[in-house]
Amino acid sequence: MDKIVVHGGARLEGELRVNGAKNAALLIQCAALLTSGKTTLRHVPQLSDVRTMSRLLERLGCAVEGDRTLAIDAAGVGDGPCEAPYDLVKTMRASVTVMGPLLARYGRTKVSLPGGCAIGARPIDQHLKGLEALGANIELSHGYVNLEAERLHGAAFVFDTVTVGGTQNVMMAATLAKGTTRLENVAREPEVQELATVLNKMGAQIRGAGTSVIEIEGVDELVGVDHAILPDRIEAGTIAVGAAITGGEVLLLDAPVDHMHSLIGKLEDAGVQCVVEPEGLRVYGPDQIEPVDVVTRPHPGFPTDMQAQFMVLASVAKGRSMVTETIFENRFMHVPELQRMGADMHISGNTVVIRGVDRLSGATVMATDLRASASLVLAGLVAEGETEIRRVYHLDRGYESIEERLRGLGANIERVSGARM
Ligand code: UD1
Repeated sequence: MDKIVVHGGARLEGELRVNGAKNAALLIQCAALLTSGKTTLRHVPQLSDVRTMSRLLERLGCAVEGDRTLAIDAAGVGDGPCEAPYDLVKTMRASVTVMGPLLARYGRTKVSLPGGCAIGARPIDQHLKGLEALGANIELSHGYVNLEAERLHGAAFVFDTVTVGGTQNVMMAATLAKGTTRLENVAREPEVQELATVLNKMGAQIRGAGTSVIEIEGVDELVGVDHAILPDRIEAGTIAVGAAITGGEVLLLDAPVDHMHSLIGKLEDAGVQCVVEPEGLRVYGPDQIEPVDVVTRPHPGFPTDMQAQFMVLASVAKGRSMVTETIFENRFMHVPELQRMGADMHISGNTVVIRGVDRLSGATVMATDLRASASLVLAGLVAEGETEIRRVYHLDRGYESIEERLRGLGANIERVSGARM
């Protein structure tokens, strides 16, 4: 297994072009299932999650070619089993979002229940309730959910909780339903808007994506499209924190600043200067980080996917910060690892109280999930001495060649391949 070794102390300096957004790419890959033609995706990030989704599409009968430009031809799907098996769903929960498209287009699908994951229980009850409202017959057996419907019909549905994946799944299903669907209390994340944009390009009639109510007029068929994936606000945010804590200066080319308001606001509260330029976002790290309180919320609130990285910022701030997680239970696995690096943190329920220290110290640490891993890399950038991060496969799920990209900005970081654990 690979590991990443960081020697702390270098400033991040220079320019970096932000990659395509993982969470947009994965869902647009799923959307290709709604068409019988060829969909071409550009600026696709080279991530293991994207490859896992391509493998799932292939098992479903799609022809998938390319990498950064990905061509998906869904013509053969109807002959296949329309099934997302356990071995793929367990490695990547986003696999469950093939459910809506397969049900809508082929009238049947069988998807493994995802089960628990490292950041909490993460049920899919809202996905299923929404699809049931559209007319799906649902049966659970042997760890799988079987869904069937002659043709889905439009319906009014109110989500009990704001869910990104649930909104995307039900929205995709409704595009081919007969009649009008009105979804309320939906997620407003940019990746939901992006998916709606692509579906509309395919011929769907969706209004309201980006607000809390989405209306969909069902159509009979959708066609393949050519689409460039929007840049990743979380990758941009992660590098911005790296620039901030190292007192660096980085221009994040193509950063999707319109989707980063809460994040930029919190960086500014911490004393980080953020300048929106025509080419992207320029970030100047201050001499002294100010403490900052953060509460994760659905978009446009502060993203849970930046919570771990912000804790590193707070761990070297001058004073006391509080970080509260309201989206996922059990999303503090990075805390004990950061404590081993000298961070002063105390967990109290869903809040972590952080007292800034002058310097973290390098240690051998273990990555536990995607964003937790990113926080350990960031901590390594400001720690004294060497930090060794193990289990970096988590990192590779969501950050493309992070060590090369950070090295390009001046970090002293390398990947050691095949390290024995
Ligand atoms: C998506 C993102 C993930 C991000 C998260 C929050 C993808 C592939 N993943 O995950 O990276 O961290 O949004 O921005 O885009 N819930 C239910 N019932 C459901 C569905 C969700 O109770 O049927 C709960 C979850 O347990 C969680 C909350 O709703 O507490 C939000 O989950 P959700 O928005 O669905 O997250 P994902 O779509 O899985």
